[in-house]
Amino acid sequence: MADTAPAADTFDVVILGGGSGGYSCALRAAQLGLSVALVEKDKLGGTCLHRGCIPTKALLHAAEVADSTRASAKFGVNATLDSIDIAKVQAYKDGVIGRLHKGLQGLVSSATIEYVEGHGTLSAPGQVTVGERILTGKNVVLATGSYARSIPGLEIGGRIMTSDQAMTLAELPERVVVLGGGVIGVEFASIFASFGAAVTVVEALPRLVAAEDEAVSKTLERGFKKRKITVKTGVKFTGATQDDNGVQVSLESGDPIEADLLLVAVGRGPVTDGLGYEEAGVTLDRGFVTTDERCRTGVDGLYAVGDIVPGLQLAHRGFAQGIFVAEQIAGLEPTPIDEAGIPRVTYCDPEIASVGLTEAQAREKFSEVTTYEYNLGGNGKSQILGTAGFVKLVRADGGAVVGVHMVGARMGEQVGEAQLIYNWEALPDDVAQLIHAHPTQNEALGEAHLALAGKPLHAHA
Ligand code: NAI
Repeated sequence: MADTAPAADTFDVVILGGGSGGYSCALRAAQLGLSVALVEKDKLGGTCLHRGCIPTKALLHAAEVADSTRASAKFGVNATLDSIDIAKVQAYKDGVIGRLHKGLQGLVSSATIEYVEGHGTLSAPGQVTVGERILTGKNVVLATGSYARSIPGLEIGGRIMTSDQAMTLAELPERVVVLGGGVIGVEFASIFASFGAAVTVVEALPRLVAAEDEAVSKTLERGFKKRKITVKTGVKFTGATQDDNGVQVSLESGDPIEADLLLVAVGRGPVTDGLGYEEAGVTLDRGFVTTDERCRTGVDGLYAVGDIVPGLQLAHRGFAQGIFVAEQIAGLEPTPIDEAGIPRVTYCDPEIASVGLTEAQAREKFSEVTTYEYNLGGNGKSQILGTAGFVKLVRADGGAVVGVHMVGARMGEQVGEAQLIYNWEALPDDVAQLIHAHPTQNEALGEAHLALAGKPLHAHA
């Protein structure tokens, strides 16, 4: 026999990893008439669907229901919170995942995609090996995702866990320490506090969600304080020990903290080890695959998308990159993705949503920066909900709005308009003349632009 792979195992695109980046690439490539193989070792949908976005947002929704029940008397509805049945919470969460997983499997199987189950490796630049099978791709897309990492010397196990274990708990802890006040840290702190635990967040940097605008961090910290979540920022973690009774968390300053559970949320590392990437000529930087703005690795026909590529580790960035690469392979010459234009939402309470540059980033880039902060105190719907927060706009050189930062209940739902404003380089006047429905929280965005355009309605200039 010839030494080439059988025709059936030769594809226009072979994709390694069936998470957000990989499956979006597969679906778009199939739509464009390309032959596609999608290799997945675990479950189609990856981290986002099974261990990330979807399960955590389901838990956060259950947490919100608990908080609403506790606060019900404030609205004249006298309900009492009996207990949290964590088994039922998990069943609700798993039901959501199960339905979405089934739907996604249906989508992939109805498209002309060869779905290959198994652990794949990049055995040569245009070749992925899965067990006995060798898939040859005119193009190969690496989309192997990320894992929850720990810090040196801190072993995951028992009461010391990452988000992977924390989202499948069979029992609710009474005392929790969260190591890391980034996105995962504040979301889980929020969940555990709503479920009745005493929570302490330990963050090495001077503030929570340090990638966000400083004003957002301040409001979040205030909100957490009101919710009795203890926040320790600028603190050095020195170690943790555990026994049957609990986990003892040591900090450089102060007494050790006793807890039932230590959640380690110090970032996610790329899954690139032992997959043949470097051997195929791919450049790795601390394990991440470096690419150009067109997701090209530098090896001919070899692309990378999603969490293995340095930058925002967000499912919707993975979707966008996956679609981008499929279009690029099909010769459509798509426009490169502007990383700052990717909307960001952190689903803690209070909720955070942002797009574009923070005030500090804008000040580094532009000579004249103006900002406007519209307080949700003046927004009818926010008052009805009983939430505090703001919409902050950052404007560069008297021109376009280059940053939108929002905090307060449900503000994540406002990020759609915010991203249009940023990505279409809208001027405050452009947005000010658009009508925002009353009474919605969306009005706060409109009001902020009215004010920045010099004609505030329910606010001072
Ligand atoms: P992160 O990078 O957002 O936050 C990690 C935090 O841990 C940082 O603030 C860091 O300063 C802190 N840290 C690191 N080492 C520490 C130490 N030794 N002591 C104290 N603090 C320490 O990473 P995170 O929260 O683990 O999330 C991983 C990725 O998942 C992020 O890129 C995030 O964007 C993504 N994600 C997105 C969500 C969303 O969009 N809603 C939800 C959850 C995760």
